[in-house]
Amino acid sequence: MFEDKHITLTVSGSVAAYKAALLARDLQRAGAEVRVALTAGAAQFVTAETFAALTKAPVLTDETWWRANGQIDHIELADWTDLAIAAPASANLMAQLANGLADDAASATWLATAAPKVVVPAMNTHMWQAPATQRNRQQLVSDGVHVLTPATGQLAEGYAGQGRFLEPAEIVAQIGQLGLFVPQTLAGKHVIVTAGGTRERLDPVRFLTNDSSGKMGYAVATAARQAGADVTLITAPTKLSSPAGVTVVPIESTTDLAQAVLSRFPQADALVMAAAVADFQPEVVADQKIKKTTDNDEFILKLKKTPDILKEVATIKRPKQVTVGFAAETQNLLVNGAKKLHDKSLDLLAANDVSRSDIGFNGDDNQVTFIMADGVTDQTPKTSKTLIAQALIDRVAQLLATK
Ligand code: CTP
Repeated sequence: MFEDKHITLTVSGSVAAYKAALLARDLQRAGAEVRVALTAGAAQFVTAETFAALTKAPVLTDETWWRANGQIDHIELADWTDLAIAAPASANLMAQLANGLADDAASATWLATAAPKVVVPAMNTHMWQAPATQRNRQQLVSDGVHVLTPATGQLAEGYAGQGRFLEPAEIVAQIGQLGLFVPQTLAGKHVIVTAGGTRERLDPVRFLTNDSSGKMGYAVATAARQAGADVTLITAPTKLSSPAGVTVVPIESTTDLAQAVLSRFPQADALVMAAAVADFQPEVVADQKIKKTTDNDEFILKLKKTPDILKEVATIKRPKQVTVGFAAETQNLLVNGAKKLHDKSLDLLAANDVSRSDIGFNGDDNQVTFIMADGVTDQTPKTSKTLIAQALIDRVAQLLATK
């Protein structure tokens, strides 16, 4: 994940400082070369020798700073850095970093670093919730720093609250998901992604929908953005927060979705239809709430077919445009998937076995079989929707490059 990247780990005074040693090791396992800057507070909890032994590199501390060695240590370390991570970041370190203080070796290095930055807070829950800390967090975020959210749980003080240092493996996973080193294969491209389950209204208070959580589509939108695309996410209602840097177009019904997609598609380079679209909608939508009356023991709902959006897109698709569909299947995955790819004139189809309870609709994991227009298929391992989305976006970039 961080192959050959130079990571500077800034460790500050916190009971969790010892976990920074495990984090340094996990970052190395993910391919990074790690160097450490230790604040005076951190040195009270864990020694520079521990980190020097683990990273096989000198550790920058206030003691070693400004030796007459002919080199400006904090600038040398800052210029070497591809990614700066402050972990654990105490309330005091966050205050220093948010205000541009450079009064010790660690904060001076941070200020001099132009590379992407991540702060992983760890502190007492009251210190985390204090208005000053939240102000500093806001300031760091608006300066472009990624601030991870501390865990909630038992604190060293003996009571529970938010402020716990995230587990090292979780920190590596969350930083990986920021996509900081993703190649910009979609720079200059406009990608439309649809997500979520459409809602078909019966009356002002009732609708038909499906189990889609929207997670797969949101992951695709995020991966496309991280690869440098200009992304429009057309989304049915979900519980998810909008991915950063993406234009979000909220819709409800299949009719709304069709209109939103078809009006934007001519300006797009690629369309990924991850939305779970209703195939039928009520023939009549009541303007008032449907009442139950004493004389009706049953209610018959008549449905009509919705427009097949991808089929309509196929009629206006230009040769250089790429379209991708998902197929939700409970049987004959490959045969049904290949038929959909052909019927909808797709370049790529991600076929999903929705009969499996361990993947798909609501979970964080998925397993798909990519079916290409030339009939080649490729099954992914069962993995996170984030990684599946990145694999799908790699394929979209390759398709765009060869069109
Ligand atoms: N789709 C669409 N318009 C519809 C229904 C589906 O554009 N009215 C898109 C979906 O977003 C997905 C692909 O078509 O990318 C396949 O959707 P799926 O529900 O698997 O297939 P259907 O075409 O609806 O066929 P069936 O439900 O019979 O399997």
